[in-house]
Amino acid sequence: MREIEKYIENMDITGEAPVNEPERQYYFIKKARDYVKSTSEEIGRPLTFCVTTFGCQMNARDSEKLVGVLEKIGYVEEPDEEKADFVIFNTCTVRENANMRVYGRLGQLKRNKKANPHMMIGLCGCMMQEPEVVEKLKKQYRYVDIIFGTHNIYKFAELIVTRFESERMVIDIWKDTDKIVEDLPSERKFSFKSGVNIMFGCNNFCSYCIVPYVRGRERSRNPKDIIREIENLVADGVVEVMLLGQNVNSYGKNLEEPMTFAQLLQEIEKIEGLERIRFMTSHPKDLSDELIEVMRNSKKICKHLHLPVQSGSTEILKKMNRRYTKEQYLELVRKIKEAVPDISLTTDIIVGFPGETEEDFLETMDVVKQVRYDSAFTFIYSKRTGTPAAVMENQIPDDVVKDRFDRLLKEVQTISAEVCCIHEGTTQPALVESMNDHDETLVTGRLSNNLLVHFKGDESLIGKIVDVHLKECKGFYYLGEMV
Ligand code: 5AD
Ligand code: SF4
Repeated sequence: MREIEKYIENMDITGEAPVNEPERQYYFIKKARDYVKSTSEEIGRPLTFCVTTFGCQMNARDSEKLVGVLEKIGYVEEPDEEKADFVIFNTCTVRENANMRVYGRLGQLKRNKKANPHMMIGLCGCMMQEPEVVEKLKKQYRYVDIIFGTHNIYKFAELIVTRFESERMVIDIWKDTDKIVEDLPSERKFSFKSGVNIMFGCNNFCSYCIVPYVRGRERSRNPKDIIREIENLVADGVVEVMLLGQNVNSYGKNLEEPMTFAQLLQEIEKIEGLERIRFMTSHPKDLSDELIEVMRNSKKICKHLHLPVQSGSTEILKKMNRRYTKEQYLELVRKIKEAVPDISLTTDIIVGFPGETEEDFLETMDVVKQVRYDSAFTFIYSKRTGTPAAVMENQIPDDVVKDRFDRLLKEVQTISAEVCCIHEGTTQPALVESMNDHDETLVTGRLSNNLLVHFKGDESLIGKIVDVHLKECKGFYYLGEMV
């Protein structure tokens, strides 16, 4: 980060913007700084921003990049969206209800904009990659200032300058990209852990999923760039990284010198000072024996695997284009549990996919009972325009879906409470993440298997890994004692 500041300061903004990235963005960051400074002086207080993130870890990481740019420009964070001068929604569109929430929040912001002449609204993320959404915004939400997508998030500073220099709504959406821009500022939410993108996009085209259309084709980052980023993070106090990708198991296939995800993990493992490695998301069809072997032997890879099953019915899995059967999934789980006996498994499940019969649903329940997940995210199927499943026959009536969803949730929760408790009485390392929300004498730590434990401690422990005796299981978390 300090390096970047030096580059920005040395930028000459009297001439044309450089053509190459990231220098071009350094130029716009410096330029935007002047605008923000003069407005702040005019109104006698700093300009503030609030970034709200919807959706997944990938978006959370993108938001850190947005915050990095905003802080470099001179904006100050304001947690209350109602009070901020610049409100940014980093959107998700994986299910329809996420979209509705964004429109609702935008409606509320209209009032604030009328009252505050300096206020700006920015929209970005997956939802903006849908042409119908942008059309709707152009017609019904004229007061939005900046709209951009998932492929050109690195241009944020440039778009802000464009907005400052014109009175128009600035819209910049790309259909796809093969570009990855390195070395941009980012502001981490936690000092001791960080997400690290290892790849972008998805090539799987599961038939219900809009992600391949809004995040584009799979692109892997160069391993050298990933390692360098993690080394810098470690030098800056980070002890845990979460490697992020829509489908991390197919990492490296399209690199100039192809490399497997398992090989990348082994390289990351060598980084001195790094204590814990997590990753998500794993597609079952691409999870290799090589990876299982690496997990078995690793000292740093956490004992947690998120392995979305989506459905337990081979018939439905075929329609979902998941490219594995119920039996293959269960066999994979068996192999993983054999290699890493104390691993915690979590999953995603969709209920009510078109054509799902009661028998299909019972197959899903059967997988849940056999695997015994530590936790499962359960979703009601949401029809996404443009995906193959949206035009499939036999969409399931709401009441049937709701009934199945409730039954599934109950099963998942019962099992989860039992599975979580099996560690009671053991002592395990926990990374202390925060003070406890409800009791200021307690801190909250995360175990390797991703469960939380609360125990006596103070702020000085935050960011440290300490051994904790897990005294009592409370269903989804533990009460413990530092040893
Ligand atoms: N409807 C419901 N859930 C979906 N997911 C993805 N697309 C849809 C959809 N159209 C779920 C999947 C995925 C998770 C991130 O979101 O379970 O793993
Ligand atoms: Fe969507 Fe399937 Fe890609 Fe996951 S793997 S992002 S569910 S298309």
